[in-house]
Amino acid sequence: MGIENARDQSSSPGRRLATLARHLSVGDTSLISSRGEAIDTAPTAGFHGGSVFANVAQAPEDPILGVTVAYNKDPSPMKVNLGVGAYRTEEGKPLVLNVVKKAEKMLLNNPSRVKEYLPITGLADFNKLSAKLIFGADSRAIQENRVATVQCLSGTGSLRVGAEFLARHYNERAIFIPQPTWGNHPKVFTLAGLSVKTYRYYDPKTRGLNFQGLLEDLNMAPSGAIVLLHACAHNPTGVDPTLDQWEQIRRLMRSKSLLPFFDSAYQGFASGNLDADAQSVRMFVADGGECLMAQSYAKNMGLYGERVGALSIVCESADVAVKVESQLKLVIRPMYSNPPIHGASIVATILKDSSVDKAYVFLCFLREMYHEWTIELKAMANRIISMRQQLFNALSARGTPGDWSHIIKQIGMFTFTGLNKEQVSFMTREYHIYMTSDGRISMAGLNTKTIPHLADAIHAAVNRTK
Ligand SMILES: Cc1ncc(COP(=O)(O)O)c(C=O)c1O
Repeated sequence: MGIENARDQSSSPGRRLATLARHLSVGDTSLISSRGEAIDTAPTAGFHGGSVFANVAQAPEDPILGVTVAYNKDPSPMKVNLGVGAYRTEEGKPLVLNVVKKAEKMLLNNPSRVKEYLPITGLADFNKLSAKLIFGADSRAIQENRVATVQCLSGTGSLRVGAEFLARHYNERAIFIPQPTWGNHPKVFTLAGLSVKTYRYYDPKTRGLNFQGLLEDLNMAPSGAIVLLHACAHNPTGVDPTLDQWEQIRRLMRSKSLLPFFDSAYQGFASGNLDADAQSVRMFVADGGECLMAQSYAKNMGLYGERVGALSIVCESADVAVKVESQLKLVIRPMYSNPPIHGASIVATILKDSSVDKAYVFLCFLREMYHEWTIELKAMANRIISMRQQLFNALSARGTPGDWSHIIKQIGMFTFTGLNKEQVSFMTREYHIYMTSDGRISMAGLNTKTIPHLADAIHAAVNRTK
């Protein structure tokens, strides 16, 4: 068929053929769109040798993950990576919890296990147990079926699904996040379609909470605005409100109908006690009001790469919770269809107890697993607390100028040292110590051998810029 003939065809296959014929004819660099407009084909550089993506600009490294990239390139045997929030043993090695290994063995030996797709909302047992873990076994909201829980891709995925849901179904777009906060928060919320604002949180002078500033800013927030709250072990500052302060925050937020969106990435990791670390959240749920909760099992079960987490939305009634869950499915389905099965099965195996499955043959063994997890979790938290004390002692012994008591007052995985950008880059250059440029160090990345080296580096950095 000639080119002209092909062009004359009015049916759409005919038009497509004509377009193809023109495209293949030598020296022709333009196509005709279905509306008859010329389309310049020049950018399709694949035909001319270069990459069609040649104009893509080099993106900067993620500020947190980029620290590890730089660390990996450093050949020094003295190097220490305090950038990434992942637990390391006293020997500086990643840790797979014993209880996780046991659960995996059980799953492997279970012949009835299959690799079918999970439902859009994930593993049902996992969802129930996750809600119970964070809200408490005696939570009225759970008993009244007012909680819609969906399994998501760790904490980040839970935040994103929650934010997309709010952008579609909530009347207020503004989300207030603490200043500072985990670097991914503003990106997750902005890309989901929310409008990010900040509230004061940290006071660099006291290296503690700017409680007055926090109350003032939340008081100025428009009624109904969403407020992101770190449930415990605030990242990056390690500064948490006291229970009394939480109560004041709760009262203010409820009086202004502000919607709490909790981020719980460190339950059990802060104090070593799962219930104590959930107290802030439980206060808000106990008052009968609504809230969102993003949970992660990355840190407290060491399941970082398995991407296990849950989003719960506590609703005013069971009826609302059913509708909310139906809409969450519509958010998830086009995003990743349904979540992965392995990590959630590990968590469900560990958390399972008599209230879930009375007929389970290994019941006692399973409860033992939960108990074993709490012991391993406490051991991780205690090691971090001991690192805080050792670093504080090492700086005191060196007479390093300044008040370093915030190291032992702050809680959780990170210490916000108060070191500035120049001091941080000096420590990286001269001592091969890697951390984020805001002076945040991961206490979980330290051990007894590396503490003197870090203390020397801080001492030198502070004296140099005194
Ligand atoms: C405050 C906070 N929220 C959420 C996350 C998300 O972690 P993940 O997606 O690995 O569960 C982190 C991880 O560092 C965090 O620190």
